[in-house]
Amino acid sequence: MCGIIGYAGYRDVVSVILNGLTKLEYRGYDSAGIAIRDDNQIKIYKTLGKLINLKNELEANRADIKNPTSGIGHIRWATHGSPSIVNAHPHTCTCGSLVVVHNGIIENYKQLREVLINKGCKFKSQTDTEVIAHLVADEYGQTKDLEKAVRNSVKKLQGAYAVCVMHKKAPDLIVGARKHAPMLIGVGDGENFIASDTPAIIEYTKKTIYLEDNEIAVVTKDKVKITDVDGNEVNKKVEILPWEPVALSKLGYKHFMLKEIHEQPDVIRNVLNGKLYDIEQPIILGEVKLNNDILKKLNKIQIIACGTSLHAALVGKYLIEDFSGISVEVEASSEYIYRKSTTDSSTLVIGVSQSGETADTITAIKQAKEKNAHVLIITNRPDSNMARLADSLIPLNAGIEVSVAATKSYTAQLISFYLLAIYLAEIKNSLEQSYLQNIKHELVQLPAKIESVLADTSVIQACARKFSSFKNFIYIARGINLATALEGALKLKEISYINATGYAAGELKHGPIAMLDETMPVLSIMIPGGITYEKVLSNCEEAKARNAKLIALTSSTDEKLDNIFDVVLRIPHVPEILSPAITCVPLQLLAYYIAEFLGKDVDQPRNLAKSVTVE
Ligand code: BG6
Repeated sequence: MCGIIGYAGYRDVVSVILNGLTKLEYRGYDSAGIAIRDDNQIKIYKTLGKLINLKNELEANRADIKNPTSGIGHIRWATHGSPSIVNAHPHTCTCGSLVVVHNGIIENYKQLREVLINKGCKFKSQTDTEVIAHLVADEYGQTKDLEKAVRNSVKKLQGAYAVCVMHKKAPDLIVGARKHAPMLIGVGDGENFIASDTPAIIEYTKKTIYLEDNEIAVVTKDKVKITDVDGNEVNKKVEILPWEPVALSKLGYKHFMLKEIHEQPDVIRNVLNGKLYDIEQPIILGEVKLNNDILKKLNKIQIIACGTSLHAALVGKYLIEDFSGISVEVEASSEYIYRKSTTDSSTLVIGVSQSGETADTITAIKQAKEKNAHVLIITNRPDSNMARLADSLIPLNAGIEVSVAATKSYTAQLISFYLLAIYLAEIKNSLEQSYLQNIKHELVQLPAKIESVLADTSVIQACARKFSSFKNFIYIARGINLATALEGALKLKEISYINATGYAAGELKHGPIAMLDETMPVLSIMIPGGITYEKVLSNCEEAKARNAKLIALTSSTDEKLDNIFDVVLRIPHVPEILSPAITCVPLQLLAYYIAEFLGKDVDQPRNLAKSVTVE
C-alpha cells in the first residue's frame, strides 16, 4: 500500500506535497518521490528509505526549484520491484514528458509491458506501475488529450489502482483515476487536492469528494471534474470532514506505540461513552440496525478481518457465542475471498478493521453484500471505504493510531465486542440480567485497572531485557485468552522480528513441545478462578520439564508461582471472561521494550504498513 497526493494551486507546492506525504507515511515508508511542474518543466526527485531523505534531497536542490504551480507525490510500500530509487515513484514514459504515481497492483502488467516494449517503449524499473506511464503516453500520442489518454488506458488495466498523472504539455492539470484503491479530492478555493486519505488534505480543506471505483478526476487549481470511464460527467456530493486536523504528537513518549499503549484507559472510557450509561440500562449501539426481527432471522454470524483485527474477532466469537448462543465463524479475509462461503441473507457478517481500508477485508465485505448478508463494520475510520459499505456500524473512536503495530485500536475493538455481545444477549434475553450487570460493572472498572498496570512497568521492562536476546518465543493460553496469546506473539514478531508463535496450551504436547529447550521462552496467560487455570499450569510444568524458560502473565497472587516461573508478570484480577482486555497490555509493553532494547524502529517496522490496500 502506498500514499499519493497531488496539488494544484497558489501555495508552496513542495511543502504541501511533503506535508501530505508525512500524513500518509503510515501507508508505507521504503521510498518516496515527487514530480513538480516548474518553469514549464516537470522536475522529479526520488529517494530511498524514509521521507526525511526526500525532504533533505529537496532542501539540497532548493535553488533549482523556482516557482512550481502543481505537483504529485508518492510514498511507497513495495509490491513489485524491491525498494530502490529506480523503482520509486513517480515513473515516467520513455521521453519523460509524462509522470505517474500509483497505489495498487496492476495484475496484467507483464502482458501490457510486452506490447509496449514491442512499440519501442524503454522500461527502466521492475515495477508494475511503469506500464501505466508508457500506456498513457502512448494514448496521449494519439489523442493529445490527457483526460482521454488516461480514460482509454485504465480500461486496459486489470487489478487495483489509485493513480495520478501529469504531462509536460498539459500545464497544471492532474488526472486521477481509481479502482479498488482509495482516492479522494480536497476542494479548495483557487486550489485543489487529490489524495489517498483525508489526513493529507484536512489541514487545507474539509471539503471532500470521495471517488468511487471506475471514476476519473480532472483537477486544476480552479476546477475539479469527475467522470465515469466512458467520459460521462458524474455529479458528486461534497462532504465536509467532521473533525479537526490533529497535530500528531508523541506527547513526550519516545514512540507513538508507547503513547498509544498509555492512551488505552481513556480509549476504553471513550468506547463505553454513549453506549454504557448505567449498568441497569440496556447497551445503546446507535448505528447498529439489528432489531429483533433481523436477529430472529439470523442463524449465523461470520466475522472477517486481518492481522490484529482477526485476533479481536476471535475474542468476539467467544463472547457472542457465550452470551447469545448464536454460532460464530471467524475467518481471515484473504481466505474468505477465495472459497465458496455459506454466507446468505440470514447471515450477519461483521468486518473488523482499524483502518477500514484493508483491501482483503473490503473485497470480502463486498462479496458478503452481494449475498445479501447484513453487514456490520467495526472500524476506527467511520469515513473509510469499508464503513461506506456498512448496514450497521460501530465506530471505535480510538483516535488516530500512528504506530504500525496496532494497540489501542485492538483494545477498542475488544470493548466494542463486549458491548455487542451484551447488546445481542439483551435483545435475545439469553442471559440473567444480574450476570450482564456484573459484566458491565467490571467493564467500567477496567480503565483504572489498566492504569495500575501502566503505572509501574519495571517488572515488564526487566523481563524484556532478560529475554531480548532470544531468537524464538512461544505464547500459550486456553479459552478466551488464546486470542491474546496469538496477539502477543504477533506484536513481538511485528516490531522485534523475533520468531514468536501463539498456541493453544493444550496443543503444545501435540507437536510444538518438540521445539522446547533452554533457548525457547514460553509465556503463558492464566487467570485464576477461570475454568482452565490448572490446565495451563500443568502445560507449563510440561514445558519446564523440557528446560524451557517460563514467563507467567497472571492475576494470581500465589507466591508458589515464583518457584515455577522464571518471571511472573502480575496484573489486577478481573473475571476470566473480561481478561483479554487487560492481559493484552503487558504483552504490548513486553514486545515494545524488547524491540526498544534491540534498537528496532518501533513505529515503522520493516516491511509493514499500517493497512494494506492491495490484495
Ligand atoms: C496490517 C497492519 O497491515 O494490517 C496491522 O500492520 C493490522 O497492524 C492489519 O492489524 C489489519 O489492518 P486493519 O486496518 O484492517 O485492522
